[in-house]
Amino acid sequence: SVAYLNGEFLTLEHATVPVLDRGFLFGDGVYEVIPVYAGKTFRFSSHISRLHKSLSAILMNFELPESDWLALCEGLIERNEFENASIYLQVTRGSYIDRHHDIPTLGEPTVFAMISPLPPVQKDWQASDIKSYSVITEDDIRWQRCDIKAITLLANCMLKQKALESGADDTILVRNGEASEATSSNLFIVRDGVIITPPLSEHLLAGVTREFILTLAQRHGIPFEERAIPEHELELADEIWLTSSTKEIRPVIKVNDVTIGDGVAGPVWRQMYQYYQELKE
Ligand code: PDD
Repeated sequence: SVAYLNGEFLTLEHATVPVLDRGFLFGDGVYEVIPVYAGKTFRFSSHISRLHKSLSAILMNFELPESDWLALCEGLIERNEFENASIYLQVTRGSYIDRHHDIPTLGEPTVFAMISPLPPVQKDWQASDIKSYSVITEDDIRWQRCDIKAITLLANCMLKQKALESGADDTILVRNGEASEATSSNLFIVRDGVIITPPLSEHLLAGVTREFILTLAQRHGIPFEERAIPEHELELADEIWLTSSTKEIRPVIKVNDVTIGDGVAGPVWRQMYQYYQELKE
């Protein structure tokens, strides 16, 4: 596929960065994953404003006008002719002659983007078309700034791998007895018709999908709360969902071998998923 690197469109195989790039040496960079439906980016401004927040949080004084980011992403969409896709966009601090922990004054950042296909938008979807997840819970071994979309994802990968090795699909992370999010998605539960998601904090990412679901809930009069979810409450939930730009809204039907609700995707999920699909077109 055609990718983007530092001002140039080129095939992915030809996109290479120097070994002295601080992204390679220190994991010194941030990223975004932006969905594309019917050739158009979805919730673009929210992704770019989060990217700028992440950059400023890691002390990188680098911002482009949203229209420049859009031109970059549209360049990828046109060149690859994907209808539905996700764009991976990464900015690292760039290359410097020596390896120093000191954060250097910003030179040229490395801006990289690639695109990969997502499944087609289905108008007449059945609940059985959407894969339900089983999850485990684990202590959150990540750092204290999970609100930054940093490229340093080793802990996330290890926590995800734990789930796969125990025959589950993902891991819900627990800190101080509270469930915060999963390894690459936000967490929602439903109890007695009320949608509940943990409040924003430095322990989880401010998901664009999370925000969008709260907006949809508000718009359609579905009650919701942003409050802490103690780990033990997961088993008591009628429904559990994981949300992200690529997973959209994923029903969870098992937590540590305990069946959630009726063991199938629930009615509030079905309604919310429908609202979400209607807005993708
Ligand atoms: N992950 N929490 C974490 C830790 C994430 O990595 C993500 C997204 C989310 C959901 O955010 P959003 O709704 O804005 O996609 C929550 C992306 C998709 C990834 O790493 O591939």
